[in-house]
Amino acid sequence: MILTDPLSIGQLTLLGRVMLAPMAGVTAWPTRLLCREMGCAFAVTEMVSVKSILYSPDMPAVLDLLERGDEEGPLALQLFGAEPSDFSGAIALLNDRGRLAAFDAVDINMGCPAQKITRSGAGSALLLDLPRAARIVAATVRAVESTHPAMPVTVKTRLGWGAGDRSAVRLARMAWDEGAAAVTVHGRTRDQQYSGDADLEGVAAVKAAVSIPVIGNGDVASRADAERMIRETHCDGVMIGRSAIGNPWVFSRVLHSEAVEPTAAERLAMALRHARIQCAWRGGQRGMVELRGQLGWYMKGLPGAATWRASVYGLGCVGALEAFIKTIGTNTNTSTNAGGMNDGRRKEQADYIGGRTSQAGE
Ligand SMILES: Cc1cc2nc3c(=O)[nH]c(=O)nc-3n(C[C@H](O)[C@H](O)[C@H](O)COP(=O)(O)O)c2cc1C
Repeated sequence: MILTDPLSIGQLTLLGRVMLAPMAGVTAWPTRLLCREMGCAFAVTEMVSVKSILYSPDMPAVLDLLERGDEEGPLALQLFGAEPSDFSGAIALLNDRGRLAAFDAVDINMGCPAQKITRSGAGSALLLDLPRAARIVAATVRAVESTHPAMPVTVKTRLGWGAGDRSAVRLARMAWDEGAAAVTVHGRTRDQQYSGDADLEGVAAVKAAVSIPVIGNGDVASRADAERMIRETHCDGVMIGRSAIGNPWVFSRVLHSEAVEPTAAERLAMALRHARIQCAWRGGQRGMVELRGQLGWYMKGLPGAATWRASVYGLGCVGALEAFIKTIGTNTNTSTNAGGMNDGRRKEQADYIGGRTSQAGE
């Protein structure tokens, strides 16, 4: 299998096997669009609370999360919650309002480690309550099937709750039994958060347990990482999270051995373009505030990256960003280490971005 091979998830066919992971506060459609241009075959919205859809469906914060870019390719809507009836109710409501059809799949979050999510029984807490997780998958599959029979329902999870817990294997089997069309597994437990290395044996165990596609996730930052994930786990595709922040080129680097690192000028141009798209959508000041965490990462690994990061954090509009980029006056073609991010960078990135988002998690 090669990474550009098509992949069928239920009746949905993806034209590639390298995907963008959902990241709250990061993967709104402008970020997804840039990653797709670099070869990302599938993306997932930021997680959306089923209760917020049910009780505040017209709230701008909810509508923003549901927004899809005009030129986007296949997209899953990711939902989180703890009550099966909330999932079916939220899906029925989205369908009634004509919003479900905007998506190509529905993904259920069973991996978020954040306490504010798990204390309500949602996210990775579902690894501790498999019967409830089963009821959620069944309710979601039934609700989606009733109006969109070709739309697959998928599950994203972690290996287990704590050290040595591998309940993801049972969760994946159960999800398969209840009609899920694929499972994504982040190779860490809930307790690990983002520490240590992703455990590929754990991902392999999930893959061996089910006959639906399994997507491997965790620490994929290069072509070698993606190849290793597939070789050691036999998974059907890979999902990239933190390494794509401020670095959409990670997709071309993973997909094509001949792809080269972006130059400093290319990085600055992409940061500016990202800001322009975000600000055209959200309004100047708000767009910049929402994006500043991500913009900081565009120059990672280049000389002056710390100054860049500190400076872009305070810029109030795209014009100010453009002017700042002119003052840098870079005409170098310095290479970055974009494809080879180390653990320190990944951890730092989760803290940096995650610390500034209202519902960062998984
Ligand atoms: C800032 C941030 C926000 C995240 N938000 C979500 C989310 O909304 N839903 C989800 O399933 N996972 C979320 N995750 C987890 C990622 O999807 C992914 O599983 C995790 O980062 C491991 O992949 P990576 O090593 O490639 O980053 C988030 C991760 C980060 C860093």
